[in-house]
Amino acid sequence: MEKKWWMTTTIYQIYLRSFYDSNNDGIGDIRGVTEKLEYLKELGIETIWISPHYDSPMDDNGYDVRDFYKISSDYGSLNDFKNLIRKAKELEMKVLIDLVLNHTSDEHPWFQAAKNPNHPDFDKYHDYYIWHKPRYINGERTKPTDWVSWFGGPTWDYNEATDEYYLHIFSKKMPDLNWRNQDMKNDLYDIITYWVGIGVDGFRVDAANHLEKDWDFPNGKPGYEYFSSLPKHHEYIKEIAEKIFIPNNLLTLGESGGATKQEVIKYVGFDSNEFNLLIHFGHCWADTEYTGEAITGKWSKGKLRVSDIKKSYAHQYEILDQDGWNLVYWHNHDQPRVVSHYGNDQLYHHESAKMLAITLYFMPGTAIVYQGEEIGMTNVLYNDISDFRDVEVFTEYQNMLNASVSESRALQAIKDRCRDNARTPMQWNSQNHGGFSKVEPWIKTNFNYDEINVEKQDDNPDSILNIYRFILKHRVEDAKNIIFGKIEFINIDDNESYCYINHGEDVDYLVIANFRDYEIEINLGDTDLNGFDYFYGDFIDLKKIMKLKPYETCCFTKKLA
Ligand code: GLC
Ligand code: CA
Repeated sequence: MEKKWWMTTTIYQIYLRSFYDSNNDGIGDIRGVTEKLEYLKELGIETIWISPHYDSPMDDNGYDVRDFYKISSDYGSLNDFKNLIRKAKELEMKVLIDLVLNHTSDEHPWFQAAKNPNHPDFDKYHDYYIWHKPRYINGERTKPTDWVSWFGGPTWDYNEATDEYYLHIFSKKMPDLNWRNQDMKNDLYDIITYWVGIGVDGFRVDAANHLEKDWDFPNGKPGYEYFSSLPKHHEYIKEIAEKIFIPNNLLTLGESGGATKQEVIKYVGFDSNEFNLLIHFGHCWADTEYTGEAITGKWSKGKLRVSDIKKSYAHQYEILDQDGWNLVYWHNHDQPRVVSHYGNDQLYHHESAKMLAITLYFMPGTAIVYQGEEIGMTNVLYNDISDFRDVEVFTEYQNMLNASVSESRALQAIKDRCRDNARTPMQWNSQNHGGFSKVEPWIKTNFNYDEINVEKQDDNPDSILNIYRFILKHRVEDAKNIIFGKIEFINIDDNESYCYINHGEDVDYLVIANFRDYEIEINLGDTDLNGFDYFYGDFIDLKKIMKLKPYETCCFTKKLA
């Protein structure tokens, strides 16, 4: 295997709108990122990935792009962006941007022309999107299919001027692009090339598995199989990779939920020219459980299945083994905060955040840290639906009410699961709004910023922040044993513990963790414990059978002969 720089880099995901507001208008911005690069460098970060920074009406916080060539006035200017790149280079850091290829905003000039037969460019742009004539049932106009969008609600909206519906698998302000149109693709290639010219080091490719649709448009609610992971989307990705990503030596992170074994290899196998790293969500929803209520999918919260998390990782390691490269991360801007979701953000905030850091970052592969994870930021607990900002919240909340779920139960589901949990302003210090901004931010700061913030944790050697700093640096310093190691899970079916040996070149790492908020007994069975010494964590004694307090975690190492 040829070693690449991106195998040992640590990536930090920045949710731009909520990271740091440099000009006090309540919105995070590009200069805010530049000002905090040193903080990130000190954390052990060498690559940042910034959520969409393009001009946008912000229906989906920038994933709805109005102009790919322009920087959102919320976030700054092109000069600000160039300064960020310059400063990052000085600090020897890399910058990745988000690339939204599946859809545009409905306010994008292409769509404005596409929907209006009187527009001079109608003929050119109409086919950039996906249209369908209405169906008529008993003489009544109805949608072409019964598909359900990822944000809840139908995937089709009617356009009177052409008497057609357009497809949108996300919000209705995000019409899907037609990847069978070569001019459209060429226009996107120009956009990508433009940003490469500005100096970015790579891309996170949004919603990559949705680019192709089933053009027969069959019915079948919710219809995901008709607009997700269709074989042809691999051709599209390969084409961009071969034209732009590979010749320019860029790092690419592809987003694709639910990839099968064959697909994982297609995306990130060393011999297949698509992406370098794959973001899937195999381990992200290990506590969904359908209870018979009208609350379904990710909104249905049940008991955590720790074994599912381990099995998802084990599965990826097994698939890629010698043939591709793995990525380790807990979550992103689309999931609840991990310490609230998989840990315990009340009684065991510190213990569980530490457990999550140790279990994750001693595993092999490239690591991602999501903004705020390094200080143990938690879910938000707004008590009023009007405090939420995510477009998805409103459709899904309404869906629940329509299905006769009570307001309080629906609000609870939203609080537990919604994406806004991970989107509240970064908590820098104990000043108003957590030091994110001097004015009321676009989304309310978590009430706990006084307790949980960077400044407070900075000098405390035991803080979550300093645990992250230590582990992130160590995993790179000992890359040959950790990042390039080979993992073997212990008691993978067990639903309480998270234990593994990461077999390195000359050192083995043994991690033992209690993933629960109660005391458990761990039996290490046949695992050979000879030669392991305490390295990092909560306890010193290593025995075959151990009692572990809530979230107790430890890492041991063994020098190999
Ligand atoms: C991806 C993004 C998500 C966005 C969606 C549509 O899943 O991570 O935030 O809403 O794509 O662009
Ligand atoms: Ca700002």
